[in-house]
Amino acid sequence: METEIVKIKDKEFKPYLTPAQINDIIEDLARRINRDYAGKNPLLVAILNGAFIFAADLVKKLSFPCRISLIKVSSYAGTESTQNVCELIGLQESIKDEDVIIIEDIVDTGVTMSHLLERLRKDQPRSLAICSLLFKPEKFTKDYTIDYIGKSIPNEFVVGYGFDYDGYGRNLPGIYQLKD
Ligand code: IMP
Repeated sequence: METEIVKIKDKEFKPYLTPAQINDIIEDLARRINRDYAGKNPLLVAILNGAFIFAADLVKKLSFPCRISLIKVSSYAGTESTQNVCELIGLQESIKDEDVIIIEDIVDTGVTMSHLLERLRKDQPRSLAICSLLFKPEKFTKDYTIDYIGKSIPNEFVVGYGFDYDGYGRNLPGIYQLKD
C-alpha cells in the first residue's frame, strides 16, 4: 500500500515515510522528552490543525504527568503602525510559571513559530521548548533553537499524517512527498 502514488486534486505524491518509520521517529522524540522532563509536569501546547495526529501519538508515549491544550494560531500582517500579530485561539489556561512544550507538525520558514514564541513569552512561562515532527532546514530563516526535531527533510511539500494539501490528505497514515 505504501508504494502507491497518491493523487490529491491536481498533484501526485510519492511515499516518503511509512507509519512504522513515523512511529520510530516519535519513539525517539518521546524518549528524549521523557528524559528531559522527568519529575516535571509540563503543559503541552499543540498547534492545530496539522499537529493533531502527531500530538495524539506523542502524548501516549510520555511517561510523566502532563496536560495538553490544543490551540490554533492566526498570524497576520498588521496595519502600518502594527507589527505582525499572533492570536491564540483556544488557550484556556495560564502558562505563567509553567514548563511549556509547543507541539508543531512542521517548521518550514519558521515565521509561524517565531510569532508564537513571541506571543507565548509575554505570558512568562518558566520554560518554553519546541517539538516539531518535521523540519525543513533549507527554508528556515530564523535563529531560534528547535529543541526536539523528529526529522529534518528536504525542501519538498509533504502530505499525510496530519499534513494537508489544500485541506486534503491529513488522514493518510503515512507521509508522502510531492512527485517532481
Ligand atoms: P512556516 O511559518 O513557514 O514555518 O510554516 C509552517 C506551517 O506551514 C506549518 O505549520 C504547516 O501548516 C505549513 N507547511 C509547511 N510546509 C508544509 C508541507 O510540506 N506540507 C504541509 N504543510 C506545510
